[in-house]
Amino acid sequence: VLQVILRRARLGLRIPAVCALLIQASAFAAVILGSAILDWWADFQVSIALAALIQGLLAAALSYQLGMAIWWIWIQFLFPLALVFTLALHISSYLFLGAFVFLLALYWTIFRTRVPFYPSFPATWDAVAAMLPQDRAIRFADIGSGLGGLLIHLAKVRPESNFLGIELAPLPWIVSFFRAKTKSLPVQFERGDYCQLNFAHYDVVFAYLSPAAMPAVWEKAKKEMRPGSLLLSYEFPIVGNEPHLTSACDARGVFIYGWYM
Ligand SMILES: C[S@@+](CC[C@H](N)C(=O)[O-])C[C@H]1O[C@@H](n2cnc3c(N)ncnc32)[C@H](O)[C@@H]1O
Repeated sequence: VLQVILRRARLGLRIPAVCALLIQASAFAAVILGSAILDWWADFQVSIALAALIQGLLAAALSYQLGMAIWWIWIQFLFPLALVFTLALHISSYLFLGAFVFLLALYWTIFRTRVPFYPSFPATWDAVAAMLPQDRAIRFADIGSGLGGLLIHLAKVRPESNFLGIELAPLPWIVSFFRAKTKSLPVQFERGDYCQLNFAHYDVVFAYLSPAAMPAVWEKAKKEMRPGSLLLSYEFPIVGNEPHLTSACDARGVFIYGWYM
């Protein structure tokens, strides 16, 4: 049990959001302790605003020391100040609860996967359709299928083929699920983690994820995908692996990359 706890703790510490939270909690504890000592020793009461400023500075300095990315250093500095400022606005706590539940349903365990939700658009869907094998029916998986737009489009233009979307976050998944229910198309949306999906069952696996996710997707694809099957990645190349296929760039200047296994 201890080994499992230690392994999970080590994995957790590799997640920047978990590190940031621990740093912020340590800075908070240091500020509370420092304020109590000042109060007891010098009869000096630290104001909430000053405490927030010191906590932000401490957290930013610790984050810098630990080599966190520059945006985390700014987030760490501004977080306690933003908290104090927002509390002063006396906004109903139900609003925060509502926003929290909405964001949780939309982004779910983004702190772990490091893949946020953002949809692709019709120009990309057409480019993906043009990259698919045209001479036969295929089995296609969108790993992290979001609102399901890509698969619903592909199922319309390739009705002889089969499409599966797998999505971790509940809100995008439920939207895609009901979109598919209202149409009779060869498309299915499952809620789950693509790490548990066997890529061997698909002729084409499509990913629109993030640079952080791509090395593990590549390893999984190499291990599981059958010879001749195709891995596509929109926007994010796989460092050190030249693609066999590249689409024309879209209006944003972004490409789709393809690798035959
Ligand atoms: C950038 S969006 C792409 C959405 C969709 N493929 C599209 O083209 O519109 C990435 C999606 O992957 C989902 N995701 C991230 N990690 C995942 C995982 N391990 N398993 C399943 N879905 C995941 C996210 O919740 C998010 O909705």
